[in-house]
Amino acid sequence: MVAQDKIDEVIKKTDIVDLVSQFITLEKYGSGFRGLCPFHPDHSPSFSVSPDKKIAKCMVCGEGGNPITFLRKIKNISFNEALKELADKAGITVDGLYINKKTDNFSHLYEIMETSKKFYIHNLLNTKSGLEAIEYLHKRGIDDETIKRFEIGLSLNTNNSLYQVLKEKNYNELDMMHLGLIKQNDNDFYDLFRGRIMFPIKDEFGHTIAYSARIFNTNDKNQAKYVNSPETEIFKKHLTLYNLSDAILSIRKMHRVILHEGQMDVIASVRSGNLETVCSMGTALTKEQVRIIKKYTNNVLLCYDGDKAGIDAMLKAIKLFETVDLKVKLVILPDKEDPDSYVLKYGSTKFNEFIENNQLDPLDFIFEYATRGKDFTKNNDVEDAKEKLFINLKDVKSTSSIERYIGLFAKLINVSEASLLMDFNNYYTPQYNKNNADIFEQENSFPSFLEQEYQYLSNYAWAELRLLNYAKLSKGMADVIEQKFPDNDIRPYLEPIHQELWDELNLDYFMQYDDFIEQQFLERLNERLYNCYLQNITSLNKKGDCHIPYNEADMNDCITKLKEHYLEKKAHELDAKIFDANGSEKIMYLTKKVDLLKQLEKQRCNNANFKQNRK
Ligand code: GTP
Ligand code: MN
Repeated sequence: MVAQDKIDEVIKKTDIVDLVSQFITLEKYGSGFRGLCPFHPDHSPSFSVSPDKKIAKCMVCGEGGNPITFLRKIKNISFNEALKELADKAGITVDGLYINKKTDNFSHLYEIMETSKKFYIHNLLNTKSGLEAIEYLHKRGIDDETIKRFEIGLSLNTNNSLYQVLKEKNYNELDMMHLGLIKQNDNDFYDLFRGRIMFPIKDEFGHTIAYSARIFNTNDKNQAKYVNSPETEIFKKHLTLYNLSDAILSIRKMHRVILHEGQMDVIASVRSGNLETVCSMGTALTKEQVRIIKKYTNNVLLCYDGDKAGIDAMLKAIKLFETVDLKVKLVILPDKEDPDSYVLKYGSTKFNEFIENNQLDPLDFIFEYATRGKDFTKNNDVEDAKEKLFINLKDVKSTSSIERYIGLFAKLINVSEASLLMDFNNYYTPQYNKNNADIFEQENSFPSFLEQEYQYLSNYAWAELRLLNYAKLSKGMADVIEQKFPDNDIRPYLEPIHQELWDELNLDYFMQYDDFIEQQFLERLNERLYNCYLQNITSLNKKGDCHIPYNEADMNDCITKLKEHYLEKKAHELDAKIFDANGSEKIMYLTKKVDLLKQLEKQRCNNANFKQNRK
């Protein structure tokens, strides 16, 4: 046990402003200091430091505390480790300080790695083949400072130079072999890494735990480009992120992590000034790595290679990040480029501009992924894009987001949003059984499969499609529907293409004919409306039967849905105005919005009552 008075002494002797300044920039504020909080995404300085009280704490997220708590949290170390660090600095000896580090059990392995790392660095800087390796690194844009920062080294093309060095230090041969550095042949030991540029891989705390070794002066296709150390007690690939230990403070400071695919990309990105960059170890991102990232930030910028493999991998990564509620932005590099090649080709400034200006939200990314390079005059391309979009949208929780992207896609392929949404729902609920269509026979009952749909599809578009279908029944029916809308005008509540269709039906066709005859109606439509109509019918048919008999309850429900959506849309449109406006104008827009939201609430209540009554 550490005596409390020792702890107090350490706290008292620590200059807390000095300590915090190592991690964030502080400005004078009142009797203390303040800065951006390193523990949450902060836009105005919420982190306050009081030298008198010896407290460094965020006013918003509450993270921080006395010097020990602060250091512990920001460095992700134990209380005792933080205490020891501060005590050492203050020149205080603390008795009974027991630090249980996981490194203790494997200290012999860490030591061997440390020694070999130093040897490899020495080789790079002091040998003839080192010159060649440095020339290669320079050619790839890796300057001397970067070589030093990443502690890049070189394994010599000799039989056993590393073994000799390790042997001299009396390390255990079994340990050397276990780490994948040495192999035994008869009675001889020889080095496993030879003539490769050595990139040390470190754990979260900065201990070297493995190597990634790249060939550099050969075109031999039989040799692997990279050879990695084997997994050991200290190196678990699925837990390791290259450069994490050096990135942690910047990740905190920048409130984000940048994730690339390969270590060359990380090096290029760091060289460009993005110190908060890491990558997984040449394998797909794991859920464990995602959890590790989550310890340090909630924001991820994902930028993999711009090829198909890279984009597919990003798609998988999005899903992983979403499971832990991390916010992801994605950057798709031009085809065939990776961050490393981009920096080499266009320079760091251009690279940074590119990644800052081309960030996509996951849904934008999915949309881009689905539609990229497609020719939508070709049916194959349409179907392919549709499939890609649907399969990725089906897990999306936000209905309004789904609608938005379905809407965008509908425009792109020139069909109505409603019909596309129907398609999507068919895709979403493949278990729907056409035989259920007989529910229609039960008079005046609400079709139960429609009810099911509503549970998922709390959106207007499907309602719109069904409503149009009801309107077709007769001139009288179309009038009844229209009269249920304010000013007897349904048009503002419909999608633009459906407004046109409505006019054709109600203002044109039904002016001449009392009964709806499909062929007769179709002949009057232009190509665009014709296609839209057919697509709508196809979608409804896929559901089971487009000849839904008149069902008053359902029809009213559809109308309510359209009205709700209309109010939602209006309220949403106001947001931009509220954002831009000032003073009394802002208040006016806000009042309008409140009014709209009230109406919406009322509408929803009516709808709920209506559903309740029906049961
Ligand atoms: P450079 O060719 O040096 O620019 O590397 P890169 O990062 O562009 O490589 P690539 O995109 O091909 O691969 C990404 C990551 O996968 C690399 O950083 C390595 O960690 C890993 N990797 C690539 N090739 C090999 C290999 O042959 N063996 C192993 N074990 N890993 C590899
Ligand atoms: Mn590369």
